[in-house]
Amino acid sequence: MGRHKKEIVIDNILDRRKSGYYSTPKIVADFISYEMLKLNPFGKNVLDPCVGKEELLDTFYNNNKVIYSFDIIDFGNHKKSIFRNEDFIEYYNNLKTPLLFSNNQDKINYDYIIANPPYNCHEVDYIKNNKKYLLEIFSEIGVSNLYSMFLYAIIDIAKEGTLIGIITLDSFLTSYAHKTLREKILTTCSIHHLILCPTDLFLDQNADVRTCIIILQKGKKYQKEILTMNRSDNKKDFYQKLINKEFIEVDINDFVLTNERDNREIIIDVPKDIINLFHFDRLGELFSCLTGISTGDDKKYISKEKNDTFIFPFYKNPGTRRFYTEPDGFLHKDFIKLGEKISNFIVRNKNFLFKEGITCSSMGVSFGACYLPPNSTFGVNANIICDNEDIWWLLAYLNSRLVTYFVRGILIRSNMITSGYVSRIPLLPFNEDVKNKLSQISKFAYNNKIKNDKLLESISEIDLIIFNWLNLSDNIIKHINDFCSNLIKRT
Ligand SMILES: C[S@@+](CC[C@H](N)C(=O)[O-])C[C@H]1O[C@@H](n2cnc3c(N)ncnc32)[C@H](O)[C@@H]1O
Repeated sequence: MGRHKKEIVIDNILDRRKSGYYSTPKIVADFISYEMLKLNPFGKNVLDPCVGKEELLDTFYNNNKVIYSFDIIDFGNHKKSIFRNEDFIEYYNNLKTPLLFSNNQDKINYDYIIANPPYNCHEVDYIKNNKKYLLEIFSEIGVSNLYSMFLYAIIDIAKEGTLIGIITLDSFLTSYAHKTLREKILTTCSIHHLILCPTDLFLDQNADVRTCIIILQKGKKYQKEILTMNRSDNKKDFYQKLINKEFIEVDINDFVLTNERDNREIIIDVPKDIINLFHFDRLGELFSCLTGISTGDDKKYISKEKNDTFIFPFYKNPGTRRFYTEPDGFLHKDFIKLGEKISNFIVRNKNFLFKEGITCSSMGVSFGACYLPPNSTFGVNANIICDNEDIWWLLAYLNSRLVTYFVRGILIRSNMITSGYVSRIPLLPFNEDVKNKLSQISKFAYNNKIKNDKLLESISEIDLIIFNWLNLSDNIIKHINDFCSNLIKRT
């Protein structure tokens, strides 16, 4: 396994990206360690597997705990811990291979493991250079992120009763790629805290990341009510709430989507009446929800202008557009033949080519849908092919705030919305009267290509119909509206 160049000075963005070094704010470090000590004041040994400059260790140090630490970079100051300038993943692998035991530290039972794992993601050199080796170690969860490998390894080496306090990226809460990691957490640990951190928590270190604090205990018998907190608007509000302990207490049974059609997504601060809607049929069970063409080289095969060679309207991501959108470009007239000849030019779902339906946004924080006219083609975003009589009410429904909340507040908090997520949107069994009213609004919106204030007005009309039909309380409506008006801060 490749050794890492050790750089002591972390003073620019490139170095941070290479090592994944971001320093945890003191209030957060103190909160996590204090809560861990409150849960078990009597433990002895602490581990920080990616210690940086010992930012997480003050409370343990002041309480005379014996602290062990690792880092691939030696920052030079190890007053509080017994430090090893080693790769923690390598240490974990050695632990799993008893013949490689090197010294007594490998046999220590840690009572507390605290960490802010490196935020490198899969394109970063570490994973690329060591992929085969890492895939062998982490065959159960995959190697899409370094932080998820750390989390898995930490849970694995913890003994019964070990407290685990982590601040890390929160994509593991909902992303399909992290389903097995969620299973690992839910089946082997009790969960004490799950707190979503504000998006500006690491912004002063040039990291615009969504993070959370999770405090676990290895073993299932310690489970009590989980203390949760939704994402605050900003650091200041967040610190205030942490200090005042403004938590929502949640039963473990209301903490995950348990329906067999779902993937045990972890849900924070979602009203019960909304979770119950996940018992209805899902969109993909009644309509074809699919992806289309990936050309492998859009610049070559998709033109902005229509001409003799590029003739088929191509839709790939309506983004923030709703109801009406121009095509994103025009696809090469020989695309079927190109798909047969070129290995990475893939034409999926050929039976559904040129049919009318709905095209949904894929990348970006907002979720919206536009009419997909007949004789067009579409990309790898989610597209719904259905009869004309269903298109218009469904289009209105998909553009409602309730659906935005389903998608971005529950099903997937990260930025990429694939057809797998869209097909799991609950489909409410509206009667004909409601469908007619919704259809009228979306036909008007489409025909008039409405934007800005007019668009917001139409969406509010749609919301009113849906909220009334569901008979939702004012508090829940306020909760959904607040989420949708502050999408970037809340997701
Ligand atoms: C997000 S920083 C956390 C630093 C500090 N513990 C804190 O909370 O402020 C992650 C640390 O992980 C270290 N790191 C990166 N890859 C590592 C690895 N494979 N093994 C051990 N440490 C690693 C980085 O050098 C960096 O210091």
